[in-house]
Amino acid sequence: MKHLLIVCNTPSENTRLLAQQCVAGAEDTDIDAVTTLFKTPLEATADDVIRADGIIIGTTENFGAMSGLIKDFFERIYYPCLEIKQGLPYALYIRAGLDGTGTQVGVEKIITGLRWREIHAPVLLKGDYTDHFAAQTRELGLYMAAGLDNGIF
Ligand SMILES: Cc1cc2nc3c(=O)[nH]c(=O)nc-3n(C[C@H](O)[C@H](O)[C@H](O)COP(=O)(O)O)c2cc1C
Repeated sequence: MKHLLIVCNTPSENTRLLAQQCVAGAEDTDIDAVTTLFKTPLEATADDVIRADGIIIGTTENFGAMSGLIKDFFERIYYPCLEIKQGLPYALYIRAGLDGTGTQVGVEKIITGLRWREIHAPVLLKGDYTDHFAAQTRELGLYMAAGLDNGIF
């Protein structure tokens, strides 16, 4: 059994829906051998990351950067995971009112340090909220889980 960890900050109804759909995609009935663990950034620990075979991070963009909660998560898990989780398959989605690039650059700097392996281009969900955003996070969850399930990642 593989373990997929999904860590998202969800400060609004829309972002709760995005996280929910990401988890729903990962738990698709076609997925046989992957268990999905959803945690808020405050709940998620270094041990959760150490146990994971793949990770999806979802963050809002606040003040031109990743949310403070996601930054706190990275600050807590960085050194405990640095040596032992290199190559961890990861994917990122960003919900931004307008932009999202500052968040992408900031997260990618940390990921470069951690040496995790990007398995999908960052999913940038910017502008007025549309239902298509939740479809994209669902697809991302399914993509990651299917790759773990099939031994591709
Ligand atoms: C304090 C604060 C700062 C924000 N700063 C930015 C920002 O710098 N760039 C941006 O694109 N959106 C910004 N936003 C918008 C949020 O990214 C957006 O409200 C959040 O992703 C929730 O999306 P929703 O409105 O669809 O629920 C900010 C929101 C808040 C509350």
